[in-house]
Amino acid sequence: MGIGRQFVESTRYEHLGPSDQEEGVPQPPLELAPEATAAETRLPGISGHRAGDLAVMEAIDRRRSVREYAAQPLPQESLSRLLWATQGIKRVMPGVATLRTVPSAGARHALETFVLANSVEGLEPGLYRYVASRHSLVARDNSPGVAQRAVKACLGQRFVESSAATFVWAAVPYRMTWRYGERGYRYLYLDAGHVCQNLYLAAESIGCGVCAIAAFDDEAMDRLVGADGFELFAIYVATVGYPGHPRR
Ligand SMILES: Cc1cc2nc3c(=O)[nH]c(=O)nc-3n(C[C@H](O)[C@H](O)[C@H](O)COP(=O)(O)O)c2cc1C
Repeated sequence: MGIGRQFVESTRYEHLGPSDQEEGVPQPPLELAPEATAAETRLPGISGHRAGDLAVMEAIDRRRSVREYAAQPLPQESLSRLLWATQGIKRVMPGVATLRTVPSAGARHALETFVLANSVEGLEPGLYRYVASRHSLVARDNSPGVAQRAVKACLGQRFVESSAATFVWAAVPYRMTWRYGERGYRYLYLDAGHVCQNLYLAAESIGCGVCAIAAFDDEAMDRLVGADGFELFAIYVATVGYPGHPRR
């Protein structure tokens, strides 16, 4: 049996023992601990609950994957809206769960968002982490070459660097498996799909385009975002920016 099929078979309910939650193990934190020293950028607030003025059905109709981006920088307010649309917290039940703009199995919300800001107004180019509970970005890596390393991690897909921003979603599997055991791994990938689809549609509503990326070198991508590959690992990537060709 191939390993893909093995994964599906082994995560059937009949193979699962009691989860840590069922065994009475305390719940893990709802999000990663804040970086103690990193510079933090509070993102502009979201006015109302709309990412733009486009009707949802129109956004769905217009959506396509965009790999050619204009040099036009993304306003910080737009990035703020896109982060809110993909992982924004609408309600916190302290120590229990968060409810966000996307659905998540059991409201576990086991994803963390990293943003490679290539051309975002008011942000030094570099890698940031989105702190959903504070709707802020913390600086992770502003060293030269971080965007080129991201391109390399994405097997040479150059639009990772020509985008205005590239999102990297990484999973904290225990946040999910604490409740669902090994079956929880299925849900991480399902959750990521919802998140990326919201990015596609929210981006469309503000005149931007997105391209989902799953072709990346796991180890290189984990290294880029500072993930250990086990307790935190990269799961999905997406570029965003205004469609068009950069002016030379
Ligand atoms: C899970 C997933 C992984 C993808 N990975 C890549 C990728 O690595 N590189 C890329 O250029 N496009 C990638 N895409 C985009 C698809 O190629 C694209 O959605 C497909 O060709 C259909 O085109 P459309 O999105 O314009 O309708 C991915 C899409 C999905 C859903």
